[in-house]
Amino acid sequence: MSEVIAVMDIDDDNGNNEAEKPVKGKNVASPAAAPDGKATPWVEKFRPKSLADVAAHRDIVDTIDKLTSENRLPHLLLYGPPGTGKTSTILAVARKLYGTNYHNMILELNASDDRGIDVVRQQIQDFASTQSFSFGAKASVKLVLLDEADAMTKDAQFALRRVIEKYTKNTRFALICNHVNKIIPALQSRCTRFRFAPLDNFHVTERLRYVIEAERLDVTESGLTALVRLCTGDMRKALNILQSTHMASQHITEEAVYLCTGNPMPKDIEQISFWLLNEPFSDSFKRISEIKTRKGLALVDIVREVTLFVFKIKMPSDIRVQLINDLADIEYRMSFGCNDKLQLGSLISSFTRARSALVAAAQ
Ligand SMILES: Nc1ncnc2c1ncn2[C@@H]1O[C@H](COP(=O)(O)OP(=O)(O)OP(=O)(O)O)[C@@H](O)[C@H]1O
Ligand SMILES: [Mg+2]
Repeated sequence: MSEVIAVMDIDDDNGNNEAEKPVKGKNVASPAAAPDGKATPWVEKFRPKSLADVAAHRDIVDTIDKLTSENRLPHLLLYGPPGTGKTSTILAVARKLYGTNYHNMILELNASDDRGIDVVRQQIQDFASTQSFSFGAKASVKLVLLDEADAMTKDAQFALRRVIEKYTKNTRFALICNHVNKIIPALQSRCTRFRFAPLDNFHVTERLRYVIEAERLDVTESGLTALVRLCTGDMRKALNILQSTHMASQHITEEAVYLCTGNPMPKDIEQISFWLLNEPFSDSFKRISEIKTRKGLALVDIVREVTLFVFKIKMPSDIRVQLINDLADIEYRMSFGCNDKLQLGSLISSFTRARSALVAAAQ
């Protein structure tokens, strides 16, 4: 049985090339914000349609583009953290190879489909072994997309080795995963590997500006900086935060972004760090508990951000090492759901100890 899984059709009209101008949209209702437009998550609405739309990874995308144009596509293995454009890139390749009718020529299997050894033996083999004709397509080879391939069983991966070799003549395989070490070495060696690194701030900003303009949003510069900071190179996360903040408030400011995601604001972290470094134990405890309740902050977020703050301030390295170690222990315990109050006490104690060490070192 050869079955072609339909991938989500994303043929809307937002595929024009990125506008480079950093223009901010106006806060007015727009065609893009029409009822149907609102329903689509922006991550899908703004999924790159062509390889030229994929932000960052220029060298990788250009190489793949060149190979696709020359009809010399090798088996591919794309890996890297979430939201960096792996699936989008391969779908753009499919579009380029087969036009918008690409569904007939590709077999897409992802983690939501069964991909045990039986699927490799039947579905994939059936698809790969039959000759397909697609009128108007530029390429005659078919494409098997194995998204989230790191979730495939070892048996299935072993079975795939021979299938890949046997049908190389008319089928190309594209494996996509987050953790490349979960792919068996034999499969890795059959593919050309490309690593999709987290997007750098410049490209995230550029892509966000494009979406902001298309959706005509009202975003302040500090709001944009906050989005870039919080997404940590994950473009999907950036778009999701942008959309949820937009739903919560019309003006997307730094505060709105932090409030929407529940992350502590940098100025709150500065304040908390100041208390930790200067106030007596009981005062620190009272004030931090109060700000936690008032702003709805999670202790684990505070610990994470305070740690980054500790990296920045000047102190002797042995004291810093001990303090970071203590903070890591607190974070570890928090991940098991330990008592919040006790862990807050432990956080303040760690700083108290570091302060005593600082005083001793100064004498
Ligand atoms: N390089 C990029 N350029 C433009 N948009 C991107 C890029 N990377 C991600 N996006 C946006 O994020 C969304 C998700 O991207 P995609 O599905 O390609 O991520 P992925 O790398 O496959 O992630 P995962 O490992 O979680 O499957 C896209 O729909 C797109 O809107
Ligand atoms: Mg993906």
